[in-house]
Amino acid sequence: MKDIGYNFYYSGPLLFKTKLKDKHIDWFHEIMKDTKKEKQLIESIPSFKIQVLNKQSAQVALNPYLNVYKEAYRKWYNKPIRRVVVEECWVNVMKPGDFIPPHIHTECDLSSVLFLDDLPREIVKQEAPGPQPGSLNFIFCTSGGKMNINESNHIPKKGDFFIFPSDLTHWVFPFKNKCERLSIAANYTINHWRR
Ligand SMILES: [Fe+2]
Repeated sequence: MKDIGYNFYYSGPLLFKTKLKDKHIDWFHEIMKDTKKEKQLIESIPSFKIQVLNKQSAQVALNPYLNVYKEAYRKWYNKPIRRVVVEECWVNVMKPGDFIPPHIHTECDLSSVLFLDDLPREIVKQEAPGPQPGSLNFIFCTSGGKMNINESNHIPKKGDFFIFPSDLTHWVFPFKNKCERLSIAANYTINHWRR
């Protein structure tokens, strides 16, 4: 029935996804190379490796997308923001059996995850419903009503760039295959307009 319109009302956290253009994906490959050259912090935490990236370079590469995010933020929350500032940016390298359990990021307003490549083909095999090996998963709430959408599951694709409130719980499903899963994470603060 084309003549019957409807509205629905947004609620909950804004989970934003866009796609990086190839030239910006290439920039990130360069940023990663530079970091290795400079021998900046490359550290190991118990489960997986982290490589810290230059946050100013990340800011420049991400600015076009952060500007689009600002527009989405205004529509979703009905409130403008002045600037989204990269505070930290790092590469996660996951190996077979690594698991990133449900967690939030602290001391920031927003977080993001970016994928420079599709998930390795060896991982993407399973057709069963629900979270897949190597998938990125968000949990909106754990005790919502039966009509609530409580989670969102994603198989990473090249260029996928997710931005979300830093206190939105997220996690990564482990995988068994012998390959690496690489993602770039960042934390941001929001600069608000002064009234
Ligand atoms: Fe995270």
